[in-house]
Amino acid sequence: MSEKEKNKRREFLNHVCPAVAMAFLGVPAIQSCSSGDDDVDTGNGNNNGGNTGGTDIGYTKSGNTITIDLNHSSFSNLQSQSWIQFTAEKLLILKLSSSSYKAFEGRCPHQNTHTAWSYNSSTNQFKCGQHSNSYETDCSLPAAQPNSLATNGSLKCYTATVSGSNLVITL
Ligand code: FES
Repeated sequence: MSEKEKNKRREFLNHVCPAVAMAFLGVPAIQSCSSGDDDVDTGNGNNNGGNTGGTDIGYTKSGNTITIDLNHSSFSNLQSQSWIQFTAEKLLILKLSSSSYKAFEGRCPHQNTHTAWSYNSSTNQFKCGQHSNSYETDCSLPAAQPNSLATNGSLKCYTATVSGSNLVITL
């Protein structure tokens, strides 16, 4: 299916009620509720989403290596607010200083949501707004969680190294 056809299908599904969409797809409704993950970028101001990689968008991806141009406008939020929810690659990136960054798996350890993050600089924790779980940025076990939710572990850390004006993340 071409990208244009996929977009038309997404647009259609966004405009019909869930029950109709499920019937249209022949999917039982109970299956459609089993995952919090999707590939839709929300455009919530923290992401650099909707891209598939390339020099014109501020980063490239080669194998398991992502190279980010730290001076590119796509990553200006990383400089101004010291963190981003990098939805296109499902990552979280935290700036500690001009020469030190951390990168994390962006899928929540609880149910894989990757578009609902916020960062609390006072507690050094990322919070997933899907069910309000918080996770330590040192990738240790998470803090106590509300509502007795199972957390399924901590955020996974990736190697993030500054090289000139680039940030190189190894997945
Ligand atoms: S999916 Fe993140 S807290 Fe539930």
